[in-house]
Amino acid sequence: MTQNLNSLAARMPLAVLGAGAIGRMHIERISAHPEVCLAGIADPSAAARDLAASLGVPWHEDPLALLNQTAAQAVIVATPNATHTPIGLACIARGLPVLVEKPISDTLAHAQQLCDAAQAAGVPLMVGHQRRHNPILQRARELIQAGLLGQAVSATVMATWLKPDDYFDMAWRRQLGGGPVLINMIHDIDALRFLLGEVVSVQAQTSHAVRGFEVEDTASAMLRFANGALCTLNVSDAAVAPWNWDLAAGEAAHYAQQDVDSMFISGTEASLTVPQLRIYRYTGQRGWHQTLTEERTPLHRVDPYVAQLSHLRAVAEGRATPVCSGTDGLRTLQTTLAVHEAARSGTTVHLSHA
Ligand SMILES: NC(=O)c1ccc[n+]([C@@H]2O[C@H](COP(=O)([O-])OP(=O)(O)OC[C@H]3O[C@@H](n4cnc5c(N)ncnc54)[C@H](O)[C@@H]3O)[C@@H](O)[C@H]2O)c1
Repeated sequence: MTQNLNSLAARMPLAVLGAGAIGRMHIERISAHPEVCLAGIADPSAAARDLAASLGVPWHEDPLALLNQTAAQAVIVATPNATHTPIGLACIARGLPVLVEKPISDTLAHAQQLCDAAQAAGVPLMVGHQRRHNPILQRARELIQAGLLGQAVSATVMATWLKPDDYFDMAWRRQLGGGPVLINMIHDIDALRFLLGEVVSVQAQTSHAVRGFEVEDTASAMLRFANGALCTLNVSDAAVAPWNWDLAAGEAAHYAQQDVDSMFISGTEASLTVPQLRIYRYTGQRGWHQTLTEERTPLHRVDPYVAQLSHLRAVAEGRATPVCSGTDGLRTLQTTLAVHEAARSGTTVHLSHA
């Protein structure tokens, strides 16, 4: 016990590769975290070099050069999607446990390459679907796994909100792959997989009727889960609406929290809303003429990025297995890409999970 406390007393040095929007969020939280500290930053931008100087940590434009010159014991990869696999492979080759931001990679083949390398080397690979570290989602999963719903039947999930016009000043956000399916819906799909298990088929439609960009502004998907449950999942970044995880869950201070739910999940015994964790069920006679009771579980608001850092350390030290493994990241990406494929082809896309 004393040994555990002593070993936890020293903060584990983490390298952050890529210090853009999400990399800086990690750096901010690492800097205030009791269990980890910042070993260095790699990012070719002058802004990243200045940030490293202001924090007094090593900086290099090249991730591999940084890893050679620091004593990082684990790594966060927060670079653009197409670089996740080459950079992740380099970390794995050095035996460094690695948390790769979502999506795990730019293609399924590259994602598989990363998973295979991690498995062959026995190096932990994690993917940054941070919602899995939110106690609200964890509680929802516990309730479902304990049988609260009975047999899961139906889910309705919304990710509707308004992105400001200047968000689209960056060209890649107006082009295929830069839209709300791959950027936002992927998180809802991962959360659904966390709660309800594997998705076996996908139907979908996308629309760009509001903004007229190459990329979609709105998408609807219908998912069938291996357990037979069906889900409709709606995303739009052109809608004035509060119904989405980021606003409802209040995870980050830069979103004004809304007193709403974004996930509605029903089964043969009860229904559950998330993130408010409202439970509806019958205590006596059952049927639509009877009164449903409503129960609420108090919410535990925790910054999931902070919890994810504790988890990264625990995994790196062999005290935990990844809550979101490389394989999870790969399957979530596969399901998300199937939304685009189903919309493009107008057919049902069947997923295999060999
Ligand atoms: N978990 C989340 O909620 C979440 C949120 C936003 C972004 N992301 C993911 O994080 C990744 C980065 O997104 P972002 O929004 O921070 O992008 P960004 O463009 O703001 O930042 C990317 C940074 O990486 C740097 N970079 C580019 N190539 C590099 C290389 N080879 N080595 C080191 N640095 C390099 C760039 O200079 C830039 O500073 C993406 O994969 C994105 O999907 C995840």
